[in-house]
Amino acid sequence: MEKTIKKTVLEVGADGVGIITIVNPPLNLVSVDVFLSLKKSIEEAVQRDDVKALVIIGSQNKFSAGADVTTFGKSQGKKAHTELGFLSIEFVTDTLEAARKPIVAAIDGPAFGGGLEIALACHTRISTSAAQLGLTELQYGILPGLGGTQRLPRLVGLPKALEMIMMSKRLSGKDALKLGLVDAIAPRDKLLSVARHWALDIVDYRRPWVVSLYKNDRLEPLAEARIILNLARSQARERTPNLTHPLVCIDVIEEGIVAGPRSGLWKEAEALLQLRQSDTCKALVHFFFAQRATLKIPGVTDMVLSPRNINKVAILGGGLMGSGIATAFLLGNYHVILKEVDHHLLSAGLDRVKANLQSHAKKGKITKDKLETVLSLLKGVLDYDSFKDVDLVIEAVLEDVSLKQQVFADLEKYCPQHCIFASNTSSINLDKIGEKTKCQNRILGAHFFSPAQFMPLLEIIRTERTSLQVLVDLLNVSKKIKKTAVVVGNCTGFAVNRMFFPFSQAATLLIERGADIYQIDQAITNFGMPMGPFRLADLVGFRVAIASGSQYIEKFPERVYKSYLIPLMLEDKREGQSTRKGFYLYDEKRKASPDPEIVKFVEKARIISQVIVNPQLSRLSAGEIVEMLFFPVVNEACRILAEGVAIRASDLDIASVLGRGFPAYRGGIIFWGNFIGSRYICSRLEDWSKVYGKFFEPCPYLVEHAMNETPLGTETKHASRL
Ligand code: NAI
Repeated sequence: MEKTIKKTVLEVGADGVGIITIVNPPLNLVSVDVFLSLKKSIEEAVQRDDVKALVIIGSQNKFSAGADVTTFGKSQGKKAHTELGFLSIEFVTDTLEAARKPIVAAIDGPAFGGGLEIALACHTRISTSAAQLGLTELQYGILPGLGGTQRLPRLVGLPKALEMIMMSKRLSGKDALKLGLVDAIAPRDKLLSVARHWALDIVDYRRPWVVSLYKNDRLEPLAEARIILNLARSQARERTPNLTHPLVCIDVIEEGIVAGPRSGLWKEAEALLQLRQSDTCKALVHFFFAQRATLKIPGVTDMVLSPRNINKVAILGGGLMGSGIATAFLLGNYHVILKEVDHHLLSAGLDRVKANLQSHAKKGKITKDKLETVLSLLKGVLDYDSFKDVDLVIEAVLEDVSLKQQVFADLEKYCPQHCIFASNTSSINLDKIGEKTKCQNRILGAHFFSPAQFMPLLEIIRTERTSLQVLVDLLNVSKKIKKTAVVVGNCTGFAVNRMFFPFSQAATLLIERGADIYQIDQAITNFGMPMGPFRLADLVGFRVAIASGSQYIEKFPERVYKSYLIPLMLEDKREGQSTRKGFYLYDEKRKASPDPEIVKFVEKARIISQVIVNPQLSRLSAGEIVEMLFFPVVNEACRILAEGVAIRASDLDIASVLGRGFPAYRGGIIFWGNFIGSRYICSRLEDWSKVYGKFFEPCPYLVEHAMNETPLGTETKHASRL
């Protein structure tokens, strides 16, 4: 028989309270060993005459961060099935919840997933106000599997439980108290003594002994519960139409309400077993670890370099991006100077920043006091006079090489010697931007995505001359403004825009040959993207698209698909959503509707390019559209990997999800490419390149992997040049 590793400590005090401490550092993750140890400790304490009641607590001020995510997404056999049933019913319900002595959970730090589910089965919960509680399983493609689907609704009511479970929401101890999820709050240094007293009060009948699985007073009557569950179903279908696990979770909750909680527990265990092996779970778990991996930058984060203090930040340009970036920095409590070229543009920029912050306040993301405080950190200027003590400049002027070169040369004159010069350029090679600047070791790219105050990605571009210190400084800044940073090498379009440039190109190529604009956008949104390529082009604006496109044409002339469509539309004063006319027409509320006149421009572009219409393209299936738009993205991602522009393939997954909204439940662009298979992708690209030309031609890296049938991005041969 396998020996259980001891993961709990039982200590019995003179007051007759047994304290069981979970000891599985650093996060006290729950594992089979933790459960077996807990079971043993509880059974021992229940047997002992000197124990009247129990308190469960986590070591090092952390209750438990839940199950080990590395075990999700792995194939599970029959043994696992039995284990899950055992854990959920035999341990949590029959040993813990049904113990003959009251058990109190004393919660500090994280109580997530399985950790919180242990606490839910205790007879009372006491927490610190800063503790974090949540059933976060849905974010990994599974569902709470230790009775959380049954106990949480009974403790806090169905609507609040659904909100927490469906959104993987984390609550502070303070908010959990308001819901009735915890029974009392205690300061950290008094947590254990309050929990002890509470446990003894239950023994003395001064406080109730609550068995949450059979608590019914917070549950709505069946008919009402069904209405709430059906509403949750339709919201889940609308939010994530391609995902089934949220719906499975609602079914499991319903089972408990209709057929009783024990039946609900069994259905939950069955569902968990299925979901743990699903493709969605595998992709979401990959995404979770890929995001963590971005923090490690070989040769940078493993060096002993401390980030310098960045106090004052200047943003050049108060347009769409500059105002969003300024907002992000203000929310990170930085002093921000916003520079524009004239009074009118400056006041428009400052107004945009204020509107962004007010909208944050309206949504309850910041308090009114915080709004006032951060606004006092903002200053608008028209010259460089106040740049003498600036630590970081982010340039967000128009996408124009000579303007950017001039601006960078000016910065050198007015800023202190330590000041970092970052550009938010979408596509221009940073060596080009820095051509007129002497101190090129201080230059790097800080590429934000629109809207910059919300989008979670910061693509940091280091050139061959960027100093390590400057990189470390910007990485630290990215944490403070709550962005996930992906560090990439310098090239035209860097990683994100370069990968996705072929996406819009493929879309244009298809419509010029007969495919339908709106059908393409629909297929792409059905796949899970926030919007299709044409709706996106309208949003970004045609001028930005032309400016970026010219960089690609110059750099990769042999494989760029040249189209006259957007220039023709610009001639007609169509610039996208900003002019309320692009591929769509927009009403005052920015609601988009298809424009029948678009055909005119497409036909003109066809004539100029001498393109022949292929009637088959008007009948493309949604699947074919997805392939024809995303396989070229995988192809470009392969070139990026081959050139060592990205540190690791999973960084491109993160970049595609957080920068472009590629669905996280597909794992990111490379993960998805591997799921489809390099061989199939390569052969499709070869077929299309025979018909439509070099644009679709698979790159040598992809061909090699297709031939060897090896997953993309797992080799060490193409070592990063970063
Ligand atoms: P925008 O046209 O909205 O704003 C640019 C602003 O820069 C204008 O208000 C202009 O008056 C100002 N400006 C020009 N010269 C200046 C100077 N010397 N000093 C201070 N301000 C000056 O453009 P947008 O969209 O904000 O783009 C800015 C940069 O960000 C471009 O390089 C663009 O490629 C990049 N970018 C754009 C994204 C987008 O979705 N629009 C996304 C990511 C990057």
